[in-house]
Amino acid sequence: MIYTRKDLLDLESLSAEEITLFLDTAEKFREIGEREVKKVPTLRGYTVCNLFFENSTRTRISFELAEKRLSADVVNFSASTSSVAKGETLLDTAENLLAMKMDMFVIRHAASGAPHFLATRVPASVINAGDGTHEHPTQGLLDLLTLRQHLGALAGRKIVIVGDILHSRVARSNIHGLTKLGAQVTLCGPPTLLPRELATLGVTLEYDLSRALGGAEAVNILRIQRERQEGGLLPSLRAYARDWQVQPHHLELMAPGAIVLHPGPMNRGVEIAQAVANGPRAVILEQVTNGVAVRMAVLYLLSESRRRAEAGAGTATGQAAAPATPTPPAGGRASDTLIAQADA
Ligand code: CP
Repeated sequence: MIYTRKDLLDLESLSAEEITLFLDTAEKFREIGEREVKKVPTLRGYTVCNLFFENSTRTRISFELAEKRLSADVVNFSASTSSVAKGETLLDTAENLLAMKMDMFVIRHAASGAPHFLATRVPASVINAGDGTHEHPTQGLLDLLTLRQHLGALAGRKIVIVGDILHSRVARSNIHGLTKLGAQVTLCGPPTLLPRELATLGVTLEYDLSRALGGAEAVNILRIQRERQEGGLLPSLRAYARDWQVQPHHLELMAPGAIVLHPGPMNRGVEIAQAVANGPRAVILEQVTNGVAVRMAVLYLLSESRRRAEAGAGTATGQAAAPATPTPPAGGRASDTLIAQADA
């Protein structure tokens, strides 16, 4: 199995075999993080640009660490200190960076579809580091890796995702990844934050937290995204915590040895009780460690795909067997602003 696409834009369009390839490759890269000298020459000669239009701690730093451990040259772009603040468009920004010979872009953007938009317009590889409410594929992969390390094969396992599903790109990547690997996924949260149409993705919807967690082998607790709440979706954080905060007594309802995940950043005392966040079932910092290995695997597999395309097609941008035009995201649309920028 080889990865033949130019980009990593989502988990929805990947096969189970491609997802497993990312996970198996990440397992191999984990060992590098344990070495005294945590560096290999795999990406020597590559320049990777981290384009962050939204705040990030884990994703931004683990991508940078992964790039440096693979010996890539790294350029960090922050929207707030760039000419985007003077009105420069995403496409103009990317074209100027391409003129400085970037090979890969890692992009986080508030607009769902921004990575897809860029991927169709630049020869560089594009990695989605989280786009609006659409997907966060490397978070999905690191969650799958952590689950697989604790539970073994995921087929038939009951995994619960609880919280603000409506706004969560992490939920969408987890749903696609877990269902492709055969897990039984239950989504739980208040009706206002749990869209009924998600049932069409082959998951179970459950509004009662205790019923959802019964017999589950893992729970992935999502952050209440205060910055994305439109009026009226939540009566109050206190009301949310009363009915959907995961507390120690909930863990007793789960399978023996069940684990607790959270993608971070956590609102302690809102979606997760302190005792659960700090308790023995939590694998939250293991997720963060796995994030570096997963991102090393993604960078490596994309670089191999580029090398093969260059050797086979004689161009630096060949996308053997990859869709010429990535399909737009289903969980959110490219913003009108982005499209207008492209048409202009
Ligand atoms: N999980 C996650 O995406 O965290 P950051 O926003 O800190 O990158």
